[in-house]
This record gives sequence, structure tokens and C-alpha cells, in this order.
Amino acid sequence: MQKPLLFSPLKLRGVSAPNRCVVSPMVQYRATDGQVNDYHLVHLGKFALGKFGIVFTENCAVEPRGRVTQGDLGMWDDGQIEGHKRLVRFLRQEGALAATQITHAGRKGSTPRSFDKPGQLGPEDAGWQRWQVVGPSEIAAAEGWMVPKQLAADELDDIVRKFGEAARRADAAGYDVIEIHGAHGYLLAQFLSPISNKRNDEYGGDRAGRMRFPLAVAKAVRSNWPERKPMFIRVSTVDGAGGWEVEDTVVFAKALKELGVDVIDCSSGGLTGLSTALPVKRSLGFQVPFAAAVKRQAGIHTMAVGLILDGPQAEAILEAGDADLIAIGRQALYDPFWPVHAAQELGCDTSFEMWTPEYGWWLDKRKNNLADIARHQKTR
Ligand SMILES: Cc1cc2nc3c(=O)[nH]c(=O)nc-3n(C[C@H](O)[C@H](O)[C@H](O)COP(=O)(O)O)c2cc1C
Repeated sequence: MQKPLLFSPLKLRGVSAPNRCVVSPMVQYRATDGQVNDYHLVHLGKFALGKFGIVFTENCAVEPRGRVTQGDLGMWDDGQIEGHKRLVRFLRQEGALAATQITHAGRKGSTPRSFDKPGQLGPEDAGWQRWQVVGPSEIAAAEGWMVPKQLAADELDDIVRKFGEAARRADAAGYDVIEIHGAHGYLLAQFLSPISNKRNDEYGGDRAGRMRFPLAVAKAVRSNWPERKPMFIRVSTVDGAGGWEVEDTVVFAKALKELGVDVIDCSSGGLTGLSTALPVKRSLGFQVPFAAAVKRQAGIHTMAVGLILDGPQAEAILEAGDADLIAIGRQALYDPFWPVHAAQELGCDTSFEMWTPEYGWWLDKRKNNLADIARHQKTR
């Protein structure tokens, strides 16, 4: 039987992903001062045991005020490298590529954990760190949210430099893949959309002006990230508010490709703070058409994400040529062993050989025990 595409390797520059199954970045709010701890090791480590080919950390802020919540991971300080190193060591030891996402939340920072309450932190939220958020213009993400302080051009240069430094730290920690978070209404996305960016300097105005800061970030990351390692960027292919559309993303993706970006991770929405503002109806694989459009029209590798639930669905996306990688978010929380289960659904790992041998050898024996029991019951 031919091996499913989902389990074929993908070479990106000097590294090779062992398969196309990727853990999507998922923030856990469990860090203190941005430091990786045992929680992150166990949380992400189990995905490596589940045989995801690429395991992404959650978004790691490039400066403290670039966090979404006070519990986010960080990549803003050299003192954070050691914790990341420990995590990377484990992921790689189990055969996964270690990947990290770097971010700045801009006007959508200083929020509580999403399961605590919607919106931003207020004076009533004692015990939580609050900070003044920043953005391209003095426009709040939604009614009742903080008005951001408008970033001056020299402050933008500073943030660009911080993204570059975060890339250098990610390399020092040993990560194989880096992704810039340019989606979900965080700082880069705030610059791209004319709804959040009303600047009249060189960082605003027409699409080229609005792309200037995100492209400067991509350039800084590429120049601080080794040539042989791949670089991804996550975009909101459409911003969900009517300001940034697929054709804009295609133009952006072509410019990013020129700068050395290898994969566009095609998400959508999130520009405003309103979770009700959904750009597309949440159906199975609802964002796959975005990955397909960007892949075909910009001629670049894409990663599909969003309600991809099982092996056959993922395999069909790859076979249709709609994306090169499959990112799994909530389904990985539900089933950290998603890849090895997907392999069985696709009929290509009937004897648990893809599992880590410490589990697989026993599970194969158990399979035989269960078959014996079934046979025995039939003959009784
Ligand atoms: C708990 C949780 C945390 C998330 N944190 C991030 C994040 O740090 N960065 C990011 O780009 N997306 C984040 N997302 C979005 C996911 O990466 C993914 O795009 C989204 O959940 C849709 O995919 P799914 O339907 O497979 O879950 C998060 C999602 C969840 C459920």
C-alpha cells in the first residue's frame, strides 16, 4: 500500500519534517515571567510522543507588553533560552521538529485568560498584571477595550529589532522552525488592516504602506534566523472585518516569499476583540480554501488549519494539493496521539510500528489479546 501523503516527509531548506502533522500554536497561560516550565514540557512533550512531525509552542512574546496575558511564554530575554532548550531537546529526541511562534499582541494584549472572561483586564481584575497596550493607531479592538498608544516610527524600529532578537534566541534554544504570528488581530495584523491602521506616515495608507512594518519584521527575523532553517508566518487570510481580503494576502505572501519566508500558515479573523465577528462559518476545514488560494496564487507552501479532525480529512486536503502541512489545534488537545490514530484510520499502521516502541510493542500484544478474546467469544 502506498504511504499516505500525511506521513510523507517534507523537506524545507536544510530540515525535514518527518510527516505533515503539525501541532498548531496554542497558548496555555501557564508561564511566569515568560519562562518555560514543567507544564509546557509535559503539555508539548506528549504531542511528540504522539508522533506529530512538527510541534509548535504557543505564541512567545518579543517583549513583555507584547503578551496577550501575563501567563504567555516569552522570547524577550536571554534568561528564557535555557527553559526553551530543555523543551526543544525533548521534542527532537522523540523525533519531532521543534517549532516556536513569536508574537506581539499590540492592542489585543493585557487580557485575562480566555476562559475567565471576554475583553481586556479592568481595574476590578486585582492580582493580574495590566499594561498600556500599543498599536498602529489610537483605535480600540472593540467597545470597552483599551485605546492603544500609537507607536512612533522609532518605536516600530525597536519592535522590529526585538523580533530579530527573539529569532536569535529561538535559534540559540535549538528550534528548527520559527513562525511569526501575523494573524488574529495582533500587532502585525493591526498594521495590515485599514480598519485598525489609520496612520498617515509610511507605515499606513495604501496596502504597500500597511505591509511595510510586517515586512520589516519578516526581514529582521530572516536575517537573525539561519539560512538552513525554515520560516513560517501565520496570517489572517481575511481579517473578518472587511478590511483585508484573500487578494491582499496573496500580494503579501508573494512579498514574504521574496524575503525568504517558506510557509504561509493560513488562518483568519480576529481583528476586533469580538469573538462573534467570524469571517467564515465554522464548518469542517473552513479555512482550507484560504490555504489553497494562497498556495496556488502565490506559489508558496501553505499550512491548513481549522477544524481538521481526522486522518482521511487531512489526507484529502493534501491529495487535492490544497496545502502542504496540516495544523491540528483543539483536536490535538482532545487526542494528543492524533497522528498515530490518523495512521491507523488510513490503514497504514496496523501493528503500531509508528508508535513510540515503549507503547507500540505492548499495544500490538494487546491487539492480539483482544483478537483472541473475540475469537474465543465467537466459538463459545
Ligand atoms: C487553547 C488555544 C490556544 C491558542 N493559542 C494560539 C496561539 O498561541 N497562537 C496562534 O496563532 N493561534 C492560537 N490558537 C489558534 C489555533 O492555533 C488554531 O488556529 C485554532 O484553534 C483552529 O484550529 P482547530 O480547529 O484545529 O483548533 C489557539 C487555539 C486554542 C484552542
